[in-house]
Amino acid sequence: MRFDKKYKIQLTDSTFRRMDEAPDDQFYRIPRFVSHIDPDAIDRVTELYREYLSADTAVLDLMSSWLSHLPEELALGRVVGLGMNDREMARNPQLDQWVVHDLNREPSLPFIDGEFDAVLICVSIDYLTDPVAVLRDAGRVLKPDAPLIITYSNRYFESKATAAWLYLNDEQRAYLIKTFLEEAGCYRQIELMDRSPPCGDPLFAVVARVA
Ligand SMILES: C[S@@+](CC[C@H](N)C(=O)[O-])C[C@H]1O[C@@H](n2cnc3c(N)ncnc32)[C@H](O)[C@@H]1O
Repeated sequence: MRFDKKYKIQLTDSTFRRMDEAPDDQFYRIPRFVSHIDPDAIDRVTELYREYLSADTAVLDLMSSWLSHLPEELALGRVVGLGMNDREMARNPQLDQWVVHDLNREPSLPFIDGEFDAVLICVSIDYLTDPVAVLRDAGRVLKPDAPLIITYSNRYFESKATAAWLYLNDEQRAYLIKTFLEEAGCYRQIELMDRSPPCGDPLFAVVARVA
């Protein structure tokens, strides 16, 4: 189900404060081999990827871990992960290569212009302290018209989520992400979707195309 009430969320200095302001590498040093959302919600993520991704293309899984939720039957050309924990990504069978990179220290991505056909961010956008800069750079590494697919649920590490995320409800979080994308200035066709399964963890998505 698509929705959009055209809300714009005001971004202020306190929007991106977090309870735990310590460097992220401390929190993510220990690998977590857990699923951050339940199997039905994961199926909804995979379904969405099936709709937007094509065979033989290059995909960047931003804020990656040991699971990327990509459709098993889809023969992608190249899948690159970027996250905080080397051991998690080393165990991810869907990644061809990966890089440990703290986006809250350095929002610029270590990739060349137009390198990817799709960028994914699954259940992680809430941890970025400068999401506008990261999303703008994701626009740089994407080919023109390529999709950026952001999914989220209502589960998160509370101490590491930004203040705005904690204050807003599920629907409002989609408007927050839409605001990030509008501020980034390089996206069009921003679509907000409720893809929640009938029960269990909800699953929302914001998909945009590079202008
Ligand atoms: C809740 S997990 C989600 C992992 C994976 N995307 C999934 O769907 O299971 C959050 C992920 O965000 C990554 N992350 C958190 N803070 C980050 C940062 N500052 N820079 C890069 N990645 C970060 C972590 O490495 C972790 O894998």
